[in-house]
Amino acid sequence: METKYWFVDNFQEIHQHYPQIKEAAELIQRGEVVAFPTETVYGLGGQVKLDNAVDKIFKAKGRPSDNPLIVHIADKKDVDELAHSIPSYARKLMEAFWPGPLTVIVPKKDGVLSERVTAGLNTVALRMPNHPAALALIKEAGVPVAAPSANRSGKPSPTTAQHVLDDLKGRIAGVVDAGETGVGLESTVVDCTGDYPIVLRPGGVTEADIKAVAGKADTNTVLKKQEDAPKAPGMKYTHYAPEAPLYIMEGTAQAIQKKVDEWKKEGKKVGVLAASENAASYRAEAVIACGSRSDLSSVARELYGALRAFNEKPVDIIIAEAFPTEGVGAAIMNRLEKAAGHKWIK
Ligand code: TXA
Ligand code: MG
Repeated sequence: METKYWFVDNFQEIHQHYPQIKEAAELIQRGEVVAFPTETVYGLGGQVKLDNAVDKIFKAKGRPSDNPLIVHIADKKDVDELAHSIPSYARKLMEAFWPGPLTVIVPKKDGVLSERVTAGLNTVALRMPNHPAALALIKEAGVPVAAPSANRSGKPSPTTAQHVLDDLKGRIAGVVDAGETGVGLESTVVDCTGDYPIVLRPGGVTEADIKAVAGKADTNTVLKKQEDAPKAPGMKYTHYAPEAPLYIMEGTAQAIQKKVDEWKKEGKKVGVLAASENAASYRAEAVIACGSRSDLSSVARELYGALRAFNEKPVDIIIAEAFPTEGVGAAIMNRLEKAAGHKWIK
């Protein structure tokens, strides 16, 4: 299949008649799947009503069909067409954080969505992305758009259109390129079916942010323990992994260098994923810097690109510095843990 490519240079000025957006939206209307930028990562969108379109998303990604998709909307009013019994704290969260990197899980209305979107669950994940290209595309398509991250299943999520093409060229109808995404990690997923919000996947909107609006919030206990019994079905799969095995290590750059030297002696080519503050101090086959410890949002933004970049390096094994888990650090360490398959060097 030919994968069309649209470069949307000045995305501040996108409006629904922009020809590139229009062409992409027409493909979505026809039941094709198109990748597009959001403020978190690039998504792979298909319209939510057609089984056939949703099937194409799962197929292109190689995603297990029991892992449900997020439904993206361009207008808060659309929530009531898709969901019912929405608790007042969930409305407050939508008011506070939409458009933005927050996904709410609420009871779904029957007969509106293809069953495949929700993988047979009676709940639906809803999100209004904060990106002009995404909002224009959804508006122009005139239908909510189901979109997982636009990577092959198991790979790090794409933060550039090139990442999307690396994974999905020839497998999807097109990609809208608006440059690098902003947050760099996927949205915070919050279960809003109980008495108070529960974070199922940490992201750019933190538990503290949610608590400040909803009064009370918690993080899924499974997630707290970093174990593998998922509530968000996506939590059970290995994710984000570079090709070489990845280990996480806490400690000084000197302590990490010592481990690198040990592996070198065993004849291994070692890669190091480091904060920019420390990157220059390592002696290894490949050192990739990913953001600054003084601004964790920069680490979030650069993490997936850095994990992907290791696939271009001749390394047998990778060691990653651990980051603090405050604020967006919780999301960073959640993704890094998954990429490492929870392997730590003690
Ligand atoms: O930032 C994002 O959220 C990106 C961009 C493209 O919007 N999308 C994204 O989608 O990360 P995806 O499919 O890669 O992740 C969706 C997560 C999965 O962990 C899935 O299991 C969970 O949301 N999820 C979806 N529907 C759910 C539901 N009804 N109940 C519980 N978890 C759900
Ligand atoms: Mg994903």
